[in-house]
Amino acid sequence: MEGTFTINGKERKLSFDTRATLLDLLRHGGYTEVKKGCGEGECGSCVVLMDGKLVNSCQVFAASAMGRKILTVRGIGTLHDPHPIQSAFVETGAVQCGFCTPGMILGTYYLLARNRDPGEDEIRRALDGNLCRCTGYVKIIEAVKLAAKRIRVNG
Ligand code: FES
Ligand code: FES
Repeated sequence: MEGTFTINGKERKLSFDTRATLLDLLRHGGYTEVKKGCGEGECGSCVVLMDGKLVNSCQVFAASAMGRKILTVRGIGTLHDPHPIQSAFVETGAVQCGFCTPGMILGTYYLLARNRDPGEDEIRRALDGNLCRCTGYVKIIEAVKLAAKRIRVNG
């Protein structure tokens, strides 16, 4: 099959197997920042935004994402022009192996778009579908608070 997708603001025509997931499509299309963990909707490493909503891309058929707007972590900021959330994760030491980081950052992006001053419980609830094996979550919570503060101050 072939379909058109808007990925990080750019239209792409991509071929895929009928049973391929959005995760497969993205990774084969070069968006390797979207990570494959469990493949079962349990870990959040494959999270992307689809038409503004957080989805586990391993649980979405590529065919059903045709014509949709997909945002990966690379779409919100780059190495040379990072989003405040990306900077905050690096500065607080919330990135260790980095496998969970794209999903954590997009989960944070979604949360802060709705609530610029979340409490710790709200942060934990917002990210409870994202598993991290390395950090113990303390640094991640710190990163979200720092990003929220900077976004409140700088808009
Ligand atoms: S790989 Fe999709 S939720 Fe784990
Ligand atoms: S930093 Fe390694 S899984 Fe989170």
